[in-house]
Amino acid sequence: MDRAFAEIRTLGDPVLKEQAKPVVSFDDRLVRLATLMSEAMDREEGVGLAATQLGVLTRLIVWRHPDEDDVLRVLANPEIVEQSESCSVASEGCLSVPGASVEVSRPDEILVAGFDLNGGMIELLLQGLVARIVQHEIDHLDGRLILDRATPEERRRAMKDFRERTAAAQQ
Ligand code: NI
Repeated sequence: MDRAFAEIRTLGDPVLKEQAKPVVSFDDRLVRLATLMSEAMDREEGVGLAATQLGVLTRLIVWRHPDEDDVLRVLANPEIVEQSESCSVASEGCLSVPGASVEVSRPDEILVAGFDLNGGMIELLLQGLVARIVQHEIDHLDGRLILDRATPEERRRAMKDFRERTAAAQQ
């Protein structure tokens, strides 16, 4: 994997609809992927990123914890073990859909399990914004974008915003 490939894929790229495969080897390649992901996330000033967004179909996500000094977190094979019944709606953006935002309803609290880069098991109880970020990134691993969680009306508006942003960027 080369640095040249660390470009964030955007709406229309078929890879964003694919199901990512579980991590099986906790090796240098995985560490390198996590590094490329965090670099891309920081470069684009995002709060989270899934490997899918770099075109790599591996179940790996990174995020910066907004309530803990923006500490970088990495989770392989993340799985939501439990989620609260209470949900909240908030506006979400996505580096793969620049220029657009969508109101998404998600559980307020989740218990998420996964592995660190050494293959050690991790369980995290998350709430609020960070719970939302992690759910958004897990959606990417399942080929789901914020547009797939929008009402048809919102989806149309978001697509329009995305197209306008993309056209402006190409001028
Ligand atoms: Ni996203």
